[in-house]
Amino acid sequence: METDTKKPGRQNLPRHVAIIMDGNGRWAKKRGLIRSAGHAAGAETFRRMTYYLSDLGVEFFTVYAFSTENWKRSEKEVSAIMALLKKFLLEAIDLMEKKGIRLRVLGDTSRLSPELRALIKRTDEISTRIKSGLVANLCINYGGRDEIIHAIKAWASDPEKKELTEASFEKYLYTAGMPDPDLIIRPSGEYRLSNFLIWQCAYSEFYFTDTLWPDFSEAEMDKAFDAYAARDRRFGNAK
Ligand code: FPP
Repeated sequence: METDTKKPGRQNLPRHVAIIMDGNGRWAKKRGLIRSAGHAAGAETFRRMTYYLSDLGVEFFTVYAFSTENWKRSEKEVSAIMALLKKFLLEAIDLMEKKGIRLRVLGDTSRLSPELRALIKRTDEISTRIKSGLVANLCINYGGRDEIIHAIKAWASDPEKKELTEASFEKYLYTAGMPDPDLIIRPSGEYRLSNFLIWQCAYSEFYFTDTLWPDFSEAEMDKAFDAYAARDRRFGNAK
């Protein structure tokens, strides 16, 4: 699909967009629905935004679907999210090649069910066959601190390890080989990072909105891109 380059914000698009999909529970409560209905609506928004970013030519899209801390939620809610992930991965397996979208799962997958792990292996295999197009990263059982500890342990036990530098460390992160996020969006009126991409966000731009994630739309994404395009990114340099 052609992008409308006359529209402000479409030039200077971020290469890597990351989103904390927050506000699903409040969205459901406002409608008198159970929390898992909010997560189902949130998963649908993720699907729509993935297609939108793919059409625009964004290269990487990373979302926080389930954190290392989310296990503290009720058994019922955790099971509902896991069921949604299963449904989503099954649908992705059928659609990824047709849509030209690579799907990766980032996080400690060892705590996930064997069934989910098998689906993740399958989406990984399909992604490897797809040579171009958007990379959509679903962070599951992901925590930024956990990722850093995991990376340090992987470095320490690597028989071919090089001296530890910022550049050599990056290849042990879940995001190895990907650029850092240019733009991190948090909907739902919360202003914190909640352990998301804490290594990678060093020079990210942030965009906050009160919109709850299930209500997030293409128009809202355009607003975030407009704000991003107007930012002056200096990476510590001076003018
Ligand atoms: C945060 O909203 C959302 C989560 C902890 C889970 C997000 C999960 C999904 C969108 C479903 C799984 C994803 C896919 C793509 C299949 P919250 O529950 O903290 O909302 P609240 O702050 O309003 O309570």
